[in-house]
Amino acid sequence: MDYNDILAQANDKLVSARSERELAEIKASIFGKNGTITELMKKLKDVPPEQKPQAGKAINDLRVKLAETCEQKEKQLHREKIEQALASENLDLSIDKCCAHVGAIHPINQIRKKLTDYFVGNGYIVYDSPEIETDYYNFQALNIPPDHPARDMQDTFFIGNGMLLRSQTSAGQIRLMEKHKPPLKMICPGRVFRNDDDSTHSPVFHQMEGLVVDKNVTLCDLKGALEGFAKFIFGGQTAIRFRPSYFPFTEPSVEVDVSCFNCHGKGCRVCKNTGWIEILGAGMVNRKVLENCGIDPNEYHGFAFGMGLDRIAMIQCSIDDIKLMWENDVRFIRQFR
Ligand code: DAH
Repeated sequence: MDYNDILAQANDKLVSARSERELAEIKASIFGKNGTITELMKKLKDVPPEQKPQAGKAINDLRVKLAETCEQKEKQLHREKIEQALASENLDLSIDKCCAHVGAIHPINQIRKKLTDYFVGNGYIVYDSPEIETDYYNFQALNIPPDHPARDMQDTFFIGNGMLLRSQTSAGQIRLMEKHKPPLKMICPGRVFRNDDDSTHSPVFHQMEGLVVDKNVTLCDLKGALEGFAKFIFGGQTAIRFRPSYFPFTEPSVEVDVSCFNCHGKGCRVCKNTGWIEILGAGMVNRKVLENCGIDPNEYHGFAFGMGLDRIAMIQCSIDDIKLMWENDVRFIRQFR
């Protein structure tokens, strides 16, 4: 068979390939180990010497031409494959959005994220502390020894072996201060547990603890920090006030009210006609708590605060039954989209 016939035949084969896989097979049958070209090369040894250069050149030309066809075919098949994919996988962006099921972020998570963003923006780190705690972290290190009456403020779930479900994120303060030395600025958000159950209390709820420890930290710093936060959450006109209170882990301790965002202090249903809404407990970290964590209270001072996220979400969204937060009824959650 002469070279032209061979070329024509191989060329036809290549051109007829319908898929990249088929082409690969045909390619192997031409250029592969036992392929047409290799066979021709092998036969070259039988060609009379004076014809050898010519024959060699002819085979080489043949190889180059077939390689060209092959490359073109490869490109064509690849293009076709992409075009096919584009046609079959195309997205109809005009589809009516009413048919898509879009979720909503739970109001507690919205508040948690908003607060976290605020505090992180102000240089606080977010600290994750365990939900299952020892009596030491949840109480003793926070200056609440066994039999201390302050334990009655929180009806705690004990789970045996000295372990309990944390009743306050304040435990996170101790864990942080044990491991890290001042200056410290952290928030510790998370779930807490108490044996409480009515329309404004759930056995599981959420708190966010805050702690700042450094040299020369004062009650004024606490007030400034909380004022900034209150304005961010409840609006720029919001004022705060401190009322004296008692917590074993802070001295002095305060309860913090914000002016009612609904009536701006005039008195309404939201603030029960007082003009103020209680949102958190706070104070200067008790010397004993710093000492318990190996921090010198003569060198460092700190402030701490703790707030209920469910409570803030309920106030802000006018939700009067905390159970709604846990039922996971999408109709409820969607209202806060
Ligand atoms: N742990 C307190 C509670 O659950 C809230 C609290 C009050 C946290 C004062 C604080 C604080 O950090 O300083 O009732």
